Amino acid sequence: MKRVFVTRKIPDEGLDLLREKCEVKVWEEEVPPPKDVLLEEVEQVDGLLCLLTDPIDSEVLEAAQKLKVVSTYAVGYDNIDLQKARELGIVVTNTPGVLTEATADLAFALLLAAARSIVSADQYTRAGRWKSWGPRLFLGQDVFGKTLGIIGAGRIGSAVARRARGFDMEILYFNRSPKPELEKELEARRVELDEILQDSDFISVHTPLTPETEKLIGPREFSLMKKTAVLVNTARGPVVDQKALAEALEKGEIFAAGLDVFEEEPIYEDDPLLQNPRVVVAPHIGSATFSTRNRMARMAALDLIAVLEGKKPDNPVN
Ligand code: DGY
Repeated sequence: MKRVFVTRKIPDEGLDLLREKCEVKVWEEEVPPPKDVLLEEVEQVDGLLCLLTDPIDSEVLEAAQKLKVVSTYAVGYDNIDLQKARELGIVVTNTPGVLTEATADLAFALLLAAARSIVSADQYTRAGRWKSWGPRLFLGQDVFGKTLGIIGAGRIGSAVARRARGFDMEILYFNRSPKPELEKELEARRVELDEILQDSDFISVHTPLTPETEKLIGPREFSLMKKTAVLVNTARGPVVDQKALAEALEKGEIFAAGLDVFEEEPIYEDDPLLQNPRVVVAPHIGSATFSTRNRMARMAALDLIAVLEGKKPDNPVN
């Protein structure tokens, strides 16, 4: 029987499929397996089902003696050395599509929560600090009819844009290639990055993390944004320069931020962003709905099994 290592307890929908066909070992802890465990486990397995928190670098891939497939339980695969995998003939697969709508929902939830200080208002109310209806209490930004700038108009970025049309928002997008369907369906306009930064009331980041997009949004970019702007990031933390974001908020260069992803995850307890009431944070839960996570588990398991059975997987990335 083929051997598979699963680096965390994914939903049973995926584990059951794997167990029907393979000998499966699951890392049961709440935190990822340490590197030495990963190196040891990967050595003798045919398949690895990993998470975005596992660095599948050249050391890990080279430690594997007979690994045929790395199936990641995520759409993003910036944690995997694709070039090394290709060199070693290891297939890498991911879980695109199934998490689009859940992640877009969360991006929009963060956008609204940051615009209207929902989390601070909740804490204020619970703490018994609410004395009276206040004409200046928790003033926020309008969302309806405003301009949304999408950075990276792939599946998730486009799904966020679709939600924004329900709020009668104007859509700008920055993307390597034009998206005629988006322009036709939503009257979205493709513009340069600086135009997005200058003209948008809300900016939502959806680009994958690559060497080109790392710290794409830094001090210069914040200085171009409107003072009333709200930044949302549900993609990958390092696309935004986190220190620059904290400073921009501190200096009043932008109004607020809604963040599901961070340069370091978990975010350090003493990070200044956590002290700022204008920042709404979540622990990387974009795809965290019951049905989405079940579908991701199934997809990741089926692709892993397909490769081990010598078939073509549905979602190869290399
Ligand atoms: C992904 O899939 O890349 C998300 O960040 C987590 O679902």
